Amino acid sequence: MQKELKIITIDGPGGAGKGTIAAMLSQKYGLFLLDSGALYRILALHVMQLGHNITDEKQVYHDAKNIKISFKQENSKVISYLNGVDVSIKIRNEDCAKNASIIAGYKTIREILLQKQRDFASPPGVVADGRDMGSVVFSQAKYKIFITATIMVRAKRRQKQLQNQGENVNIVSLCKQIEERDYRDKNRAVSPLKPATDAFIIDTSAMTIKEVFKKAQNFIEAK
Ligand code: C5P
Repeated sequence: MQKELKIITIDGPGGAGKGTIAAMLSQKYGLFLLDSGALYRILALHVMQLGHNITDEKQVYHDAKNIKISFKQENSKVISYLNGVDVSIKIRNEDCAKNASIIAGYKTIREILLQKQRDFASPPGVVADGRDMGSVVFSQAKYKIFITATIMVRAKRRQKQLQNQGENVNIVSLCKQIEERDYRDKNRAVSPLKPATDAFIIDTSAMTIKEVFKKAQNFIEAK
């Protein structure tokens, strides 16, 4: 008999700590790791590098048809490639994040990227992080988690992440960028950011990573 695929989805707004928890869970259970936001970021970077207009859906669709996106997983680290070039660091800046959230509102783009995301669900399974992993992409998943935190907490976490990459960003402007991105992600017509009806919600505002991980692990193992 074929063993059931283990699919764990981790959704939530930017900076809530999804990526860290997803990586820890993928290590713990020996599963593939899908950082779906990276797909949108890589495509946004591609459009920017070509000098094309990010608000021109037809052009972005055309660019998306002619791009090769690939990933290489090394333990809990995933390296992202755009047409064979490692762009893992480049896609992490706030410009890429903003443009990724603009193109993520295009139905045509979400359709193109859908199968690419589902392909990650191969044995033994996957931990997928994003905005619509539990609600759309892996709506049949057994383990759905939605991670959230206040805007200020998320901005501070993001600031720390960016500082580690050598970038200095003002906390007030980070809060504003996060707020704008939240608004776009929650209010778009296709696959808006929202917890799946059967998701386990964790507010991480006052929690350490270790505590969040433990809570997620308890949820998974109790199911
Ligand atoms: O998670 P991350 O911040 O890297 O995602 C960048 C942007 O990509 C998000 O703001 C969101 O608009 C978009 N995204 C999405 N659906 C996903 C993952 C990311 O719309 N599953």
